[in-house]
Amino acid sequence: MLAVKVPKREAENARRKLIELGVLARGYAVRREGESVLFPVTEPVEGFELLEADFERLERRPHSYREVIEVPDEVRPLLPNSFDIIGEIAIIELPEELMPYGKAIGEAILRVHRHIKAVFAKGSKVSGEYRVRELIHLAGEKRTETLHRENGIRLKLDVAKVYFSPRLATERMRIFKKTRPGEVVFDMFAGVGPYAVLLAKRAKLVFACDINPWAIRYLEENTRLNRANNVVPILGDVREVAGRLKADRVIMNLPKFTDRFLKEAMLSVKDGGIIHYYGFGPEEDLYSEHEAKIKTIARELGFTVEFLEERKVRPYAPRQFNIAIDFRVLK
Ligand SMILES: C[S@@+](CC[C@H](N)C(=O)[O-])C[C@H]1O[C@@H](n2cnc3c(N)ncnc32)[C@H](O)[C@@H]1O
Repeated sequence: MLAVKVPKREAENARRKLIELGVLARGYAVRREGESVLFPVTEPVEGFELLEADFERLERRPHSYREVIEVPDEVRPLLPNSFDIIGEIAIIELPEELMPYGKAIGEAILRVHRHIKAVFAKGSKVSGEYRVRELIHLAGEKRTETLHRENGIRLKLDVAKVYFSPRLATERMRIFKKTRPGEVVFDMFAGVGPYAVLLAKRAKLVFACDINPWAIRYLEENTRLNRANNVVPILGDVREVAGRLKADRVIMNLPKFTDRFLKEAMLSVKDGGIIHYYGFGPEEDLYSEHEAKIKTIARELGFTVEFLEERKVRPYAPRQFNIAIDFRVLK
């Protein structure tokens, strides 16, 4: 094929120039010949020595498990484009029609993503007080404990015993950026501590409550792993804890039932403090219902609220979003 020949010392500049001109032929290994380097090109290029040469084809590594999986053509369009990765564990949502191919899908994921050691399918929706789901083992190691890295912290957790979603990483960073040194934070539904441990890097003190003993066990371990000595893990029902402490910032990450805990959150925040409220809302009217509930509880307690920011956090279900509302409480 057509090639340009350049002295070795000019190779890097030549490569950049050929890319810039859009003439470097992709998928071939560049060749060295004595003190020269040969680049494959798609058309003649002015200012370079041109010649004919053979090049070895580069084997392209597949980017997606969908490139290596073998399934019947009729189910191929159902293969999900994405899946969650928590540490070394992949969790994929498969429609019923793909379940018979679960093992093959799991093995394809392991082949393409070398850092993944175990693959599970979602076996149910997140449910119950602990907000966990059933998992179906598809391939790889039969283990559910892993170490996940996010926003510069390390989180040990068991995906079968506690709630954890890597899709909230950006939202957690948003709250971290709002946190000011010296603040007292109350994380009402802390899980294994992705908010609490992160915010502890800035806040003076973080109270982190959860009703799931496994979550608190991992939270304790995660405070040690990240030297977050200013996190106070509290095992129990937040209804019994709230009101006994006062915080500048309260995080309510239990979107399915947040509204049921508004009174506790408002009693726990200082005058002028901020509450980060999460919920689910339909696309056509994401916030109104939640705003109304927030105003009602505030009125009952004799407080007023000032809405600061509202945003979609992530899609949740068709035409449904996980939303966040930040508001200030004035007492
Ligand atoms: C959606 S998860 C969020 C966990 C964590 N904030 C995160 O981002 O991974 C909600 C958590 O609230 C806990 N929870 C549910 N009801 C509770 C209650 N009444 N008191 C304290 N924690 C509760 C669950 O065990 C679960 O870990």
